[in-house]
Amino acid sequence: MTIKPLRKAVFPVAGLGTRLLPATKTMPKEMLTVIDRPLIQYAVDEAREAGIEQLIFVTGRGKWSLVDYFDVSFELEATMREKGKSLAPLEPSRVPYGELISVRQQQPLGLGHAVWCARHVVGDEPFAVLLPDDLMAGTPGALKQMVDAYNRVGGNIVCAEEVAPEKTGSYGIVTPGASDGNLTEVRGLVEKPEPEVAPSRLGVIGRYILQPEVMRELDAQETGAGGEIQLTDAMAKLIGKQPFHAVKVDAVRHDCGDRQGYVLATLALALQREDLGPVVREFMQGSTSPRT
Ligand code: UTP
Repeated sequence: MTIKPLRKAVFPVAGLGTRLLPATKTMPKEMLTVIDRPLIQYAVDEAREAGIEQLIFVTGRGKWSLVDYFDVSFELEATMREKGKSLAPLEPSRVPYGELISVRQQQPLGLGHAVWCARHVVGDEPFAVLLPDDLMAGTPGALKQMVDAYNRVGGNIVCAEEVAPEKTGSYGIVTPGASDGNLTEVRGLVEKPEPEVAPSRLGVIGRYILQPEVMRELDAQETGAGGEIQLTDAMAKLIGKQPFHAVKVDAVRHDCGDRQGYVLATLALALQREDLGPVVREFMQGSTSPRT
C-alpha cells in the first residue's frame, strides 16, 4: 500500500453557529477569540505544525472576515511601523502567498456538503478536515499525532474520544473492531445515535484524515440525520473498501461551539500561560475581586 503524503486541509467554516447566538449573528463562530487569537488561528497553527501546505476554507455568507484575517493589513502595518511598534503580534496571521484558498458553500446543507464543496481543490489527494470549533490543546498537536498514525496505517483516520453515555446523540459513533495502542479499527459509523442504540461510546471529534474517494460518496448528496448531508454517512461507505481507523490523541478537546466549552477553553488556556495563569488562578480561588 502506498501512502500518499498529506498536504491539504479543509476547514469547513460555513455553519450558522446558532448555539452561540447572539455572538455569532454577524461574526463567524470561528472568529471568536480564546485569549488573544481567534479559533481559526488555533486550527491553522495545528495544521501547519502537521505539515499541511494548502489551507482550504469552505466559507459562506458573512464569513469573509475569516479570509481577511489571514491577509496583509496594509494600513495597520504602515501605521504600526510609523509609530515604531513591533509587527511580531501579527506574525501568526501571515500565510504564504497562494497557500490559502477559499471556496463557497452557498447554503449550509451539512458538514458532508461543506467538505464536498472543496472537491475540485482537493483533487486526487488525501486531505485533512479540521473543525475549528473543536480547539485541541496538545503537544504535539492533535493533527500531527494523527499524521504519525496515518504514516503507519494509511487510509482514513478519524479522531475519536469516549463520550458521556447520554451524549452519543451529538456525535458520529464508531462500531469498534480490533485495537492496537491508540488505534482502533472502524467497523461501522453511525451519526447521532440515541444512547439505547449506540454501538459504543467512541465518538468522532473534529479532526479527520480522508482519502479523496469520500468525495465520490458525497456526490450522491444523500441527506441523513437532521436532514443534513452528513460526512459520517459518506465515510461509512468507505469501510471495508479502504483501511479505516479511529485514533485517540493525547490532547484535550474544548468544544468551543457551545457556551460551556468556550468558557472552559478560555480558562484552561489562560491557566497554562505564564502571564495570565497566576492572576486567573487567584481569582478563581476567590482571593481577588474581578476589579483588581
Ligand atoms: P456544527 O454542527 O457545529 O454546526 O458544525 P454550526 O452550524 O456551525 O453550529 P450550530 O450547531 O448551529 O451552533 C460543525 C462544523 O461544520 C461546519 C461548521 O462551520 C463547523 O465548523 N459546517 C456545518 C459547515 O461548514 N457547513 C454546514 O452546512 C454545516
